[in-house]
Order: sequence, then C-alpha cells, then structure tokens
Amino acid sequence: MTLRLTASILLTTAAAMSLNARVASPDDIIPRPALFTPADGVCAIDHTSGRMPNIYKEIGQTSSASPESYTLTITPEGFKITAPTEAGHFYAMQTIRQMLAGDSVTAVRCGTVSDEPRFAYRGLLFDVSRHFRPIDFLKKQIDAMALMKLNRLHLHLTDGAGWRMPIDRYPRLNEFAAWRPQAKWSDWSVAGARYCESSDPRAYGGYYTKDELRDLIDYAAQRNIVVVPEIEMPGHSEEVLAAYPELSCSGQPYSSSDFCPGKEATFKFLEGVLDEVMEIFPSEYIHIGGDEASKSAWHDCPDCRKRMADEGFTDINQLQSYLITRMERYLNAHGRSIIGWDEILEGGVAPNATIMSWRGTQGGIEALKSGHDVIMTPGEFCYIDYSQDAPFKEPESIGGYTPLAKVYSYEPLEPGLTATDASHLLGVQANLWSEYIPADSHAEYMYYPRAYAIAEIGWSTPEKDYPDFHRRALILNDQLKSQGYNVFDLAGEYGERRESLTTVSHLGRGASVTYTLPYHSKYPAAGNTTLTDGLRGGWTYGDKRWQGFSTPMNLVIDLGSEKPIHYIGATFMHSAGAWVHLPDKVVYSISSDGKDFSPAATLWNDVDAAYPKIMFKDYGTTLPEGTRARYIRLEATPNPRPGAWLFTDEIIIN
Ligand code: ACM
Ligand code: ZN
Repeated sequence: MTLRLTASILLTTAAAMSLNARVASPDDIIPRPALFTPADGVCAIDHTSGRMPNIYKEIGQTSSASPESYTLTITPEGFKITAPTEAGHFYAMQTIRQMLAGDSVTAVRCGTVSDEPRFAYRGLLFDVSRHFRPIDFLKKQIDAMALMKLNRLHLHLTDGAGWRMPIDRYPRLNEFAAWRPQAKWSDWSVAGARYCESSDPRAYGGYYTKDELRDLIDYAAQRNIVVVPEIEMPGHSEEVLAAYPELSCSGQPYSSSDFCPGKEATFKFLEGVLDEVMEIFPSEYIHIGGDEASKSAWHDCPDCRKRMADEGFTDINQLQSYLITRMERYLNAHGRSIIGWDEILEGGVAPNATIMSWRGTQGGIEALKSGHDVIMTPGEFCYIDYSQDAPFKEPESIGGYTPLAKVYSYEPLEPGLTATDASHLLGVQANLWSEYIPADSHAEYMYYPRAYAIAEIGWSTPEKDYPDFHRRALILNDQLKSQGYNVFDLAGEYGERRESLTTVSHLGRGASVTYTLPYHSKYPAAGNTTLTDGLRGGWTYGDKRWQGFSTPMNLVIDLGSEKPIHYIGATFMHSAGAWVHLPDKVVYSISSDGKDFSPAATLWNDVDAAYPKIMFKDYGTTLPEGTRARYIRLEATPNPRPGAWLFTDEIIIN
C-alpha cells in the first residue's frame, strides 16, 4: 500500500513536471541578448539529482570592445563562458541564472550567445530620503538589478525629507536632519515639514552608518554595480538648513530650500561633506543634484548680491552655475566627476559635468550637442513613481500613468543626433521617487517589472517587440516572485482607461470653443479643439488629451445653429498628489444668440479633496424635454486649495 502510494505520487509529480516542462532559451531572458545563434540539441538539467551542467570559464576576447561583454556557448555537455573581464563572466552567469530559474526548466537550448551592452550606464534611483530603507532591502534590490544586468545604483541620500549619511564634521545632520515627527510624507508635508531630534519618541527616519554604507558598496561591487551617491545642492536642502540655518540666505531655519551661494560657509560645508562622501564612496561619479532650486531667497540676500557683483553676474541662474562649477572643480581636483540634473545647464554648465536629463530630453540633447556626457531619464518614460496600471486598482501614488509598455517604448537615441553626440550618451536610468511609497514591499512593486524595461533599453539593441518583451517579463516576474519579491501582477494588468481607446460621437463634436479664460499653456492638449474632438483622456493628465486650467474655467461652445439638446456633461480628474482637483462647482448655461444665457444646471462636488487615489467625476446633467440652444457656457470653480488645477478632456453634448 505504502509503496503503491509513493509510486503514484512520483508518477503524479513526474506528470505535472512534464506538463510544465520547459526548454529554456537565451531568447527567454531580460535583457534580450545582442545575438543568439541556436544550434541543434539541448543541455539537460537534472533537478532530481540537483546536478547542474558544467560551467567552464575562460578569460578571453569577445567580438565586442565592452568589458561587460561575454560569449556563452551552450552544448549538450554544458556551458562555456568567454569574457574579457570578471564583469563579462558575471553577466554570462546572470544569463544562465535567468534561464535555469524554476523547476519546470528541464533543458536549455544549445547555441551561442554573443552579448554586450548597448550603454555603459544602466541605472535605478533609490530615494531613501523620502522614506528610509534598510540596507537589507537595498541588497535585495541589488540582487535583482544584477540579474537583469543593471549596473548603477543611484542613492538619493539627501533631500528635504531627511539626510541619510552621517558626516562626522556635521553631527546635526544625523541627530536631527534625518528624523521627522510624521511617518507619512504627506502628513509631514501638511504639518509644515519639520524635523525632530533622534531621541524624540515620534522620530521617524534614520541614516546609514559609514560601515553599513561600505558594506553596501562592497556588496554591490561584487555584483558589478557602482553605488552613485547623490548629495543635493543648492536646492532640496531644507533638512540641512534646519540643522545649520547659517547656510541659508536668511540665517533662519525653515526659510528656504536653497543653500546661500553668496556665503563662503556654504562652500566650506559642502566641501567637508563631500570629503566624507568621497572617503566612503569609490564611485567616479558624485551626483550633486542641482534640480529645482527655487533661487527666490537669493534675489534679496546681501551675500548673494555681493557675489553677483563681484563675479559680474547679471542673471540669478549664474549663482547656481557658480556653486555647481566650484563644486565640480573641487571634486575634479580629487579625481571625481559630477553628475547633475538638467537644471545645471541654466546659467552656464560646469565644464566637465554629466547631465541627467529628467525634464524631458531637451536638456539632454542640448548637453550632448555641446559635448557633455548624458544619462537619459525623462519623466514621461523613466519616472516609475507614477501608477503602472489603472489608478483605481493601484496603491496611492503621485499620479500619472506609466505602464510597462510606456517605459519599454522609450528610445534614448533620438533622430537628429550624430555619432559624436551618441558617443556621449552614457545610458538610461529609472527613478523611483518615494514620497508616496512608505513600505519597502510597495517600492518593489513599483520597480518590477518596470525596471526590466530600463534594463532592456540599456543593454539590448534598439529593436522593439513589446509582445515578446511582455512574454519574457512574465517569466522574470515569476522568478523574482519565487524569490520573495513583491512584483506587480503583470498578467492581471487592466490597462488604459477604456474611454480613451475609442472616439466618442456626440452633438458637440467638432463645435468651436471660445475661451473667456484660457487653458494653461503647459497643458493645452490639442488646443482649442481639445474639448470637442471626441477624444477622451487616459489615466494621466499628462497624456495630451486632458486640458489643464490653473484658474477658473469659463468657455462657450458654439454648435453652429440652434439645436434640440438633452444632455451636457464634462468629466474632471482628481489626483490630489499632483494638485489636480475636482471643481467645487460647475455651472452650465445656454443661449440661442450667444449674448443672453439662461442657467441650465449647477453641479457641486461631493468628493473629499484629500481622497488619496486618482478618480474621475462626471459633471453631467439631463435637460428638460424641448430644450434648444446654439451656445453652451461652462463655468467651473476650482477647489479652494491653493495651487489646485482643473483638468477635463471633453464636453459632451447630446
Ligand atoms: C527631479 O525629479 N526633481 C530630478
Ligand atoms: Zn544668499
């Protein structure tokens, strides 16, 4: 009896295995190898004995000049790796690791993989300021990065939400600037963005010790990953200026986000910080931030004005350029190079700076054309803090909609760039800004699978085949999931807002619109035809279907002639994290001559302005039988929250 049972279990297991049995291939992995030439036969994998095929490694040239290149020959006897460096061997091993993942793989297809990266820089940003993450979390992500041949971990160590590295000369950075009384970023922001002592019972945050950072850097280096530290300057520095207010223009804490570039103390501080950063981080590149400085306090600061006079500056941007260029000189003198966000182009770029282009690609292209090295990370494709699926089924996010297909569609080498320009394009990076990502598991969910697309763009040749990439992403997702990563359920993806996938026919389609108050120049969508073109918006206000207003709305639609109408409606978007709010009130009025309007309907908002997810609300009304009109006026009153936007996609009239 016992024997028979055992035999039947074995049979069942064997049958299940043979049902799922899969012959893996280099064609199944991410990033797609540069070239795979199949040969006859397979290399069998014996899971029962746990015996894996022999792997022979040799140092030798490949057909590529890249030190990360490798050749992997798969025969029935085993694997043979040839690579010029340890990095190449390591990447061949990652190819094997991906192919062998999962018990269902019973063999690997024979052939030769000749592989090399398209770009030398393939990065992910970790925003450990907005939410501190433990070292073990970062190591776990390094393991995943290595598997997909990503090789730069951009560690965003400092920002207004907390300073994360101890600096012995400036202990208030980790005693005070690393801690805040509210854990939730939006609560902290609304409560005035204050810091607290590490001893405060409410203290939330933290910092890495220098030993932890050294250990992390070693761990990454063993996996061919360089940790690139970012120390923000001159903006995004509220936490420093709360701890050391003498470095701000006013000398008062909580008065500005920017260092004072007029004061020598600022340079003494930054050089001291960078000395300790260089002691810990061997990276050639030190990222000095440079983004989103408000510069507002600089105008009236006597030190800044004196600096401008002494240097003969006429433009406030030159003060930023002065600070960045001085810091570049300091770091260059110590054998390091700077990376800065594309704002450092304003006021004159530091001579040797590498530009990280995030506000689209224009800054990056300009920098390439002037001979600067560039890393592309345009927000539209590479900001993975945006929602990756229908917002109604996703966790709270900063807004937007950047599904896997969108990230994958990005091509960094734009038409019009010369071979010389292209030689300065170092690579690509995805950024996970983490204001709305408190939990480590949530961060993983946001990285995977979208990091796969960055890995593929950074490594593989530029040909695109999304269905094939999607197939491989499902395989890699399964592998990461089985290793305990919280990945997004790609198989269950809902996709784009259904309304946006077809055009809508209605009586007002094609009607002219006269704007009494204009739409915002940043969000025109298709301009004056947007609201009557039959095209509905998708999940994000940035998709050029939604028209944005930073004022009340007041516009008139002209149907061309008087017609019977029985319905008027417009859909508005709510995305509180992006300051996109529903109108408090929408008033429709109608007219036959365009002069005398009579009220048709007044509709009120009933949704809490703090509702944490993106949602849409129809402000629609059915009109009494017999209603006729040629002109329809829409007036919308924004939410009273300062800076609230209105976004709508179509005014539907029937
Ligand atoms: C950035 O998103 N401010 C670089
Ligand atoms: Zn100043």
